[in-house]
Amino acid sequence: MARFRKDPDPRFWRLNRSLPFDWQLAIYDIDQSRAHARGLRAIGVLDDDELARMEAGLERVRARMGEHGFAFEEADEDIHMAIERLLGEEIGTLAGKLHTGRSRNDQVATDVAMVVQAHSLRAIELCGAAMGRLLEQAEAHRDWTMPGYTHLQRAQPVYLGHHLLAYFWMLARDVLRFQFALNSASVMPLGSGALAGVNWEIDREAVAADLGFAHVSHNSIDGSSNRDFVLDYLAAASTCAMHLSRLGSEIVIWSSSEFGFCELDESFSSGSSIMPQKKNPDSAELLRAKSPRVAASHQTLLGVMHALPLTYGKDMQEDKEPLFDAIDTIEACLEVTEGMLSGIEFDRERMEAASGDEMLAATEVADLLVRRGVPFREAHGIVGDLVRDAIAQDKPLSELTPEELRQRSEHLDDSYYEVLQRSSWLESKRIAGGTGSAPLAAQLDRARATLAAVGARLRDQRA
Ligand code: ARG
Repeated sequence: MARFRKDPDPRFWRLNRSLPFDWQLAIYDIDQSRAHARGLRAIGVLDDDELARMEAGLERVRARMGEHGFAFEEADEDIHMAIERLLGEEIGTLAGKLHTGRSRNDQVATDVAMVVQAHSLRAIELCGAAMGRLLEQAEAHRDWTMPGYTHLQRAQPVYLGHHLLAYFWMLARDVLRFQFALNSASVMPLGSGALAGVNWEIDREAVAADLGFAHVSHNSIDGSSNRDFVLDYLAAASTCAMHLSRLGSEIVIWSSSEFGFCELDESFSSGSSIMPQKKNPDSAELLRAKSPRVAASHQTLLGVMHALPLTYGKDMQEDKEPLFDAIDTIEACLEVTEGMLSGIEFDRERMEAASGDEMLAATEVADLLVRRGVPFREAHGIVGDLVRDAIAQDKPLSELTPEELRQRSEHLDDSYYEVLQRSSWLESKRIAGGTGSAPLAAQLDRARATLAAVGARLRDQRA
């Protein structure tokens, strides 16, 4: 570097060198350099012939880096310097003109924004695919009953389709979060220079349009120091990974012999090296366990950016590994979710037997009392007494005698036995968003429309 006479100490170099991870920016850096070169041509810094040679050179660099066995040099500090060196090998001193009106600070910010755009879009696509599977399974199991849980204790029966759609809506919100990250990464920092802007009036709007950015940054200081778009992606990915971990966790529990609610396809399970009978839900366990890692990436970058004086600090080079790791992790998890859900088998009898527990109808009885004018809190107490009576005699609620009922409340007549009929527990949930089959049908319609909108938005953004 310009003023230096000494080589960097190898200990410092190892810490400073970002090439071991930022090589992943190569394709974005080359695209960006091509657009920047066109911007330089438009203001006469390059002539037509120079631009043509530079574009051809950049394409040769792209091809060389794609070659099997391609190796960088130890002296290459980062991907930007490496590409410039390789371009020099291809087109000679002309390569030195490419860095006119650009700093590595706005260059790297632009590359990273391009990564976030591409992978936000990919995440939306993968969320859409997983939502499609959830919807398919929900439709196929719209009238299968299962116990719903709170505190992992049986609470109220629901339809399996209703339970599966809960995950559909979580992912639908994740799509919105990834869309937010995509929008925030659609502001081009290039042109901010090191921090103050550059001395060349490159048409930033034209370069942005060339690169697929919707806007250009309004302030060069903000442009070179902003990494909010990475944080937005990491926040979206953390929440999405948390959702998948809850799904994974339920599948682990449900596939145990104790529950026996579902079984994963062999292609998403593993055996044991010692116990031949085992079929383990490893895919679901890993969905469960990967989530804190994504959240940690978010925390890491928040920590890096915390209290960092404007504008660029080398600290910001630490944005990449958390981002790349989160991208790999969330994309793998979403792909597994989709695959795992396509081959999962549910056990109708097991789920139904578990949801037939009459105690689950306790709220139904309380509501019956409420309809007779008893305040809900009081009704809750009466039913609590009935539950205790039944447990004490080791019999189901429906076998309490009319006398026993009247001892607890004058309002308990034959309707008591009617609300204890299983079929009524779910169908009584007719409220919008409830598990009853009418609101569930409406919910399925909504879900289909939401999924279609995700697909349409993807097509727009790809176009
Ligand atoms: N490798 C650096 C990074 O990832 C590129 C920017 C270097 N800028 C600088 N002023 N040293 O952040």
